[in-house]
Amino acid sequence: MRCVKPFVYVTRKVPDEIIARLSASYRVETWTEEDRAVPRELLLEKAASAQALLTVISDAVDEELLAQAGQLKVIANMAVGFDNIDLESASRHGVAICNTPDVLTDTTADLTFALLLATARRMTEASEFVKEGKWTSWAPMMLVGTDVHHKKIGIVGMGKIGTAVAKRAAGFDMEILYHNRNRHEVAEEMLGAQYCSLDELLAEADFVVCLAPLNDDTRGMFQRKHFQKMKKEAMFINASRGPIINEQALIEALEAGDIAAAGLDVFDQEPISADHPFLSMKNVVALPHIGSASKETRLSMMHTCCDNIEAVFDERPPKTLVNKDVLQF
Ligand code: DGY
Repeated sequence: MRCVKPFVYVTRKVPDEIIARLSASYRVETWTEEDRAVPRELLLEKAASAQALLTVISDAVDEELLAQAGQLKVIANMAVGFDNIDLESASRHGVAICNTPDVLTDTTADLTFALLLATARRMTEASEFVKEGKWTSWAPMMLVGTDVHHKKIGIVGMGKIGTAVAKRAAGFDMEILYHNRNRHEVAEEMLGAQYCSLDELLAEADFVVCLAPLNDDTRGMFQRKHFQKMKKEAMFINASRGPIINEQALIEALEAGDIAAAGLDVFDQEPISADHPFLSMKNVVALPHIGSASKETRLSMMHTCCDNIEAVFDERPPKTLVNKDVLQF
């Protein structure tokens, strides 16, 4: 009897080793363009016949997609976040949703701290200055930034990545404040992190770092009044999700001098449009959502996706299942 291999659709171009691993057991198709996301219509068409999808954070997995995907058993989302997925609908349709936590914690913390440093020390501005041939002499106050060491960091969202950022901050002799749904006793004991209300954190911190997940409670949680509570010389760093911030409020806060600068790896609309006001502000460091973007970590994330897909087809619960209420297992 001819055994039909399950069909796995991969929504982005991925390295050959990932295709080879999946192809050993499944019929695999992938979107192959690196500079363009899979068009929605094609994603819907592929989802309609796929048993598994390997998705990324910009693929909207909603009721429309799930209702048409009658054979779908598992979606392996290549991210720790899963705000692109309607979890309730996935569970109702019996689709297992998996993410890629842990493997990206340190890499994302590295990038977050690098973004903080780059913002404080004006590194992208300085690099452009040199590349544009503007460096004509050494001057005492040329491109001066602000110190990071011995300052106060305020981490909003003390999960695994927040804690890893706190460890890096401790290495810079920073005082660590945090705000989170729950107290983090380990961070308090090991790193001296101090729990405080959001208002206290905003008033005290020299660097406010947003690492909270995007959900109904955090969407739009930073409005103009929050930036107005920060010190004028403080800086705002966002390495979680753009929609947690009211972007217009941040633009106005930066223009009005409510805060000194912002370092942003994430935006409301990604990719950000070329004429977005952030891009012409000297006191904004903008990155293209590269928190987890190291070769090692991106490969680990993809292998975690493969592990999860294999588990589902082997009828084992996947290691990083998000919707634990799904009926399959
Ligand atoms: C994540 O893992 O959630 C990152 O933001 C990558 O999308």
